[in-house]
Amino acid sequence: MLEGLDASGKTTQLRLLGEALAARGIPHLATREPGGTQLGARLREVLLDPARAMRPLTELLLMVADRHEHVEGVIRPALAAGQWVLCSRYTLSSLAYQGFGRGLDLDVVRRLNELATGGLEPDYVFLLDLPPRVAYERTRDRDRFEEEGLEFFTQVRVGYLELLRGVPRGYVIDGTLPPHKVCGEILARLPLSGL
Ligand code: TYD
Repeated sequence: MLEGLDASGKTTQLRLLGEALAARGIPHLATREPGGTQLGARLREVLLDPARAMRPLTELLLMVADRHEHVEGVIRPALAAGQWVLCSRYTLSSLAYQGFGRGLDLDVVRRLNELATGGLEPDYVFLLDLPPRVAYERTRDRDRFEEEGLEFFTQVRVGYLELLRGVPRGYVIDGTLPPHKVCGEILARLPLSGL
């Protein structure tokens, strides 16, 4: 599972990791939230549209609706078929963005995450960490989250770092490193030897 602020390089890492697993003959699936299903793609449009204001709880409910479809329709079937699932964003995004960023009660976010996922947790979480200013400056054509500004990004990052301390096999990776180095840091922590 990859997590991190907007523009922290998750999409690039998903591709590089996919290539690294393919080179080792490991069956895998790369996917993302929000938007990893057909319905999710529609939810994603609504969620990111800067012209569409919504209340924080509505935002959370749409995120977890997307997650439920994704877990049941994509992630569980892939795991059942023996694939490794590489996913950009999951439950920690809701805790960091809707909890720390929007100020929703973390227990409410946790309970809805649990409901949406049926308790399915990732084996590994990699936080691609960036200073908020760098992340903010990297974003262009800002979507509804990216236009929230530096203060919002700062709260989300504080949240991520705090949350990650409670995650088993959760690692903070320096997102300012060149992409191939970031990928190397991730691969070094995955159980690849002997496969
Ligand atoms: P994403 O497409 O991963 O954006 P980026 O590629 O720029 O990192 O995610 C879109 C936005 O959705 C992002 O700003 C974070 C937000 N988001 C939440 O606020 N809560 C969530 O639970 C998820 C999955 C995403």
